[in-house]
Amino acid sequence: MKFNDVYNHERVTRKFTNRKVNEKMIAQIIERAQQSPSLLNSQPWKAYTLTGNALSGLKKEVKKQLDLKVEPHEDFARMLSLNWDPYPSQNMAALGASQPYFFNNKMDLFTNANNTMFNAQDVVFVTIPKASPVWSVYDLGIFSQSIMLLAINEGLSVMPAHSMVSYPELVRKYGHISEDELIGMAIGLGYKDNTAEVNDDKYIPARLPFEEIYKLVK
Ligand SMILES: Cc1cc2nc3c(=O)[nH]c(=O)nc-3n(C[C@H](O)[C@H](O)[C@H](O)COP(=O)(O)O)c2cc1C
Repeated sequence: MKFNDVYNHERVTRKFTNRKVNEKMIAQIIERAQQSPSLLNSQPWKAYTLTGNALSGLKKEVKKQLDLKVEPHEDFARMLSLNWDPYPSQNMAALGASQPYFFNNKMDLFTNANNTMFNAQDVVFVTIPKASPVWSVYDLGIFSQSIMLLAINEGLSVMPAHSMVSYPELVRKYGHISEDELIGMAIGLGYKDNTAEVNDDKYIPARLPFEEIYKLVK
């Protein structure tokens, strides 16, 4: 695909079809993503793809936790309970206010999609070592973005989500991931279910006016 087409396709997909992604394709995507830049070439990232029995086992156990209303406890600080600066807080509030989907009667669509891991058949969990400077989070973000753009270039749809790492001990168990690694976010890869309402283009959230986020200073 042309780069602009790849870039313009970068919208999240909250419901995938049951079609699995070719394992070799995923491996090639991750291998190419290794070319991402990182501080001093530290390459702090690792990636674990869960699929088949490993992923269905994880989904079942996550569902149990959700049914028991166990509080999410991501390895990365509980983002939504942190003291956000007013700037991103306002952006999040404005997005919600402009998206009836998030707050009105469509909240269930969003919650169900998250609680069922978006029906993803292949999920990549990305990690950094527990002893990491904040720079490594930056590096992991770039690595994740590379994975997503490369995946879109292969005709896949993507779903980055912290909700899939709500119970990191379960991700560790099913992914055979060491206690020494922090589980960042997860990226669902797959084929978009075009019949699912949650994927409707009308729910794509707006971006801030460009002038609000950019200044050219001479
Ligand atoms: C680090 C990260 C975590 C995210 N976690 C979730 C999540 O848990 N659930 C969800 O539905 N969307 C999640 N998203 C997707 C964002 O909500 C989405 O990218 C944003 O609303 C903009 O929508 P768009 O990418 O379709 O333009 C996450 C995105 C990122 C980058």
